[in-house]
Amino acid sequence: MRGAGPALTRRAVVAGAGACAAAALIGCSRRGASAGAMSSGRLAETRIGGQPITIAAQERAVMLGANSGPTPAWLFGDAPFPVYRLRLGESLDATLTNRLKEHTSIHWHGVRGPNAMDGVPYVTQMPVLPGESFAYRFTPPDPGTYFFHPHCDTAAQFGRGLAGVLIVEEDVEGFDDDIVLVLKDWRVAKDGRFLPFVTDEGASRGGTFGALRTANALVAPDLTVPAGANIRLRVLNLDSTRVGDIGVEGAQAHLIAIDGNALAPMALQTWRLGPAMRMELVLRTPEAGGKVTLVDYFAREPVTLATLIAAGAAKRSTAFTPIALPPPKLPEPDLSGAEIHELKLSASAIATDYAGLAPIVLPDGRTIDLMDTLCSTSRTFWAIDGKTWPQNGHEHMPPPLMSFTRGTTARIRFTNTTPHVHPMHLHGHTFKVLSTSKLKRPIHWADTVLVMPEERVEIAFVADNPGNWMLHCHIIEHQDTGMMGWFRVT
Ligand code: C2O
Ligand code: CU
Repeated sequence: MRGAGPALTRRAVVAGAGACAAAALIGCSRRGASAGAMSSGRLAETRIGGQPITIAAQERAVMLGANSGPTPAWLFGDAPFPVYRLRLGESLDATLTNRLKEHTSIHWHGVRGPNAMDGVPYVTQMPVLPGESFAYRFTPPDPGTYFFHPHCDTAAQFGRGLAGVLIVEEDVEGFDDDIVLVLKDWRVAKDGRFLPFVTDEGASRGGTFGALRTANALVAPDLTVPAGANIRLRVLNLDSTRVGDIGVEGAQAHLIAIDGNALAPMALQTWRLGPAMRMELVLRTPEAGGKVTLVDYFAREPVTLATLIAAGAAKRSTAFTPIALPPPKLPEPDLSGAEIHELKLSASAIATDYAGLAPIVLPDGRTIDLMDTLCSTSRTFWAIDGKTWPQNGHEHMPPPLMSFTRGTTARIRFTNTTPHVHPMHLHGHTFKVLSTSKLKRPIHWADTVLVMPEERVEIAFVADNPGNWMLHCHIIEHQDTGMMGWFRVT
């Protein structure tokens, strides 16, 4: 991206000097306006390294697709999915201000940050009440494509659009453009109003699907890109439910990173991208007028998610070789002595009856007994290792699923005994996907891994980040109804 001159408008936006003023050239929405995504098909981007920023969680009317009326979206800022960029080594200093009518927080998904900044109400901080603020300050230790979202009432808050993108840039040359594409289906009716985010039918099966598929909050947007250029494409699945089989037509794309973690470039056929998962591609665009489409092949009929349209004189004349990102610098798990923790993913209608539940101790030392109902649903459909959230309205924390001494290798085997797929995610650490029994995938680093029906997936990581960390399915209705637990690193 920092290579020679991509489109002027975009550089202005990324450079971020008065991001909204610059972005007005391409349609940055103003406060109070009906805020759709930008007409360029690109998300608004702000460079934030070292600079304090405020992120307001607020309701904004957004026109989606061909709907007849606006959608009362909940956004971090004024337009869907703000993109914040910083360079590796720069600090993040973001103050969340809650202008919603219920409490919220920010969880920085995939970032190996300090526990007190992890944004999980009643686990790492108290919820941020309406009218209140909370300062998140840390330096992300790894480059990558991350996102952020709340962690209570997630089906509704995340479902209404409350999410943003965090990009930590590494030093790498050779990209002429760098595009972020956020995939999300909205649970909206034709008049723009939201449909129920949770249904028993969906929560107890594959999840409740949205009615309107979008990329960057637009239906199959066209994005203008330089011709004959090396394009970096960062694709994020920020849907609560949908799993895609993502491929590219019109160019040979190479997969260069998973969940922000570099891997040796691999020619892309398709990659199965579950909720919360990210994939990064590099491709060479065709001559001016040529098109490259991002396609989901998972559906019965392939669905075009977005189209890149090449324009201008060709940037490059040399043959295309995929650009490799610098390999991740992550602690290598030591499998020799590590015992395997079996975590069975199963259906369960009954909440586990734990004896003598311990109070919750926050990183700042505060002790609390009960969570509130926004953070604990009364429904139970799923279990991890045979355990759900506790009896009696779930307002207690269950005991940890696992505990590790700092520095030891955690080795986990997920076994899916259900007929549904589960994208399993854990906080505070990046794991190595060592083996999978069904879906063929290379060994790679990730923070979220799909576990297919009847599949066994083995992961390992060095438990080097002290604190209490959540572990859950990222199909949000599954997470909310039992498929969530936590582990402790001391
Ligand atoms: Cu996106 Cu608990 O995670
Ligand atoms: Cu699940």
